[in-house]
Amino acid sequence: MDKVVTCMAPVNIATIKYWGKRDEHLILPLNDSVSLTLDCDQMHSQTSVVAGPFVKKDTVMLNGHVMPIETNERLQRCFSLIRKLIKEKKGENCPEAQWNIRVCSENNFPTAAGLASSAAGYACLVYTLANAFDLVTEDLPAIARQGSGSACRSIYGGFVHWKAGKDDLGSDSTAVQIATEAHWPEMRIIILVVNDSHKKTSSTVGMKKSVETSELLQYRVNKCVPERTKDIIEAIINKNFVKFAEITMRDSNQFHAICLDTYPPCVYLNGVSHEIITFIHDYNDAAGHVKVSYTFDAGPNAFLFILEKDLDLFMSELIQVFPSDKSKSKYIRGIKSTNPDQVAPY
Ligand code: ADP
Ligand code: DP6
Ligand code: CO
Repeated sequence: MDKVVTCMAPVNIATIKYWGKRDEHLILPLNDSVSLTLDCDQMHSQTSVVAGPFVKKDTVMLNGHVMPIETNERLQRCFSLIRKLIKEKKGENCPEAQWNIRVCSENNFPTAAGLASSAAGYACLVYTLANAFDLVTEDLPAIARQGSGSACRSIYGGFVHWKAGKDDLGSDSTAVQIATEAHWPEMRIIILVVNDSHKKTSSTVGMKKSVETSELLQYRVNKCVPERTKDIIEAIINKNFVKFAEITMRDSNQFHAICLDTYPPCVYLNGVSHEIITFIHDYNDAAGHVKVSYTFDAGPNAFLFILEKDLDLFMSELIQVFPSDKSKSKYIRGIKSTNPDQVAPY
């Protein structure tokens, strides 16, 4: 390979949260999750790959800094799964399987701040590697999952369901598309960046502590998520916004309740996050029904869902309550979409 291959992958926002693993190494989740993938022209990772006999050693750069591979099991696993595929497709002794690989990635939004950088980042890494070696495969979600669980959902655009599966080796733990972005084009996401600094407890460490110490977690996994997942998929298929929005808010709240039930607690939301939650409920109460919903990942930043027809009025009120100098908010309008398949390398 004498050319650099560059691809982009967008973030995805979970409406049913993945929180807790049954296998730390294979990254197998305890529960199903459901998400929406954003457009690539908004929050995305952009990754370039070059490989060949002239590359001296495997290297990965993220946002201009070296990511040491020797101490990063996830990067190692993604590289070795890609090399396994190369051998399967091109023969055990093909020269490509011996080549070293140089990777350079940039996120156009804050990394490790609860804005799903690991999802876009690992989806982009495995997609770019697959493109660089001309690997046509259905295994990309499973490989991306072993970089970061949420990354398996960013391989697809639109509305995505990550089925937890039951198999110990993870053969049935995979992402499937519920519907493309064209199914519900009126759906909009607003992202309020409350704080863009690195979170104190990464998602990986936070969910491990929750599995070890939260008594509520098993209740959520067994009693709440299965029905919610079924109901939200139905709401997406029927374009029932009120139902979709209600389930989204309940699941975000329950996820953060588990974070607080973790010992010592993982506190991801801050005062501004709680003000946003109160504002949304007040707004919906005044409107007489649910017009807008919120969800928060492992960080204080809010993702709001609203239909296009309600956007302008809502934005005019939101800006009065959260002027940008107070909340450091950033408003990004846009429909989720873009399977990385549609993104031409450039
Ligand atoms: P976030 O809420 O942003 O997903 P996480 O704690 O889940 O935060 O993961 C952040 C980590 O994901 C980073 O420290 C880095 O190891 C990895 N990551 C983020 N972006 C990329 C990228 N573009 N390429 C490779 N790895 C990435
Ligand atoms: C709160 O996928 O970042 O964003 O698999 O350990 O890399 P690892 O964790 P990660 O966890 C995401 C947690 C979440 C919810 C979600 O995206 O489903
Ligand atoms: Co993450």
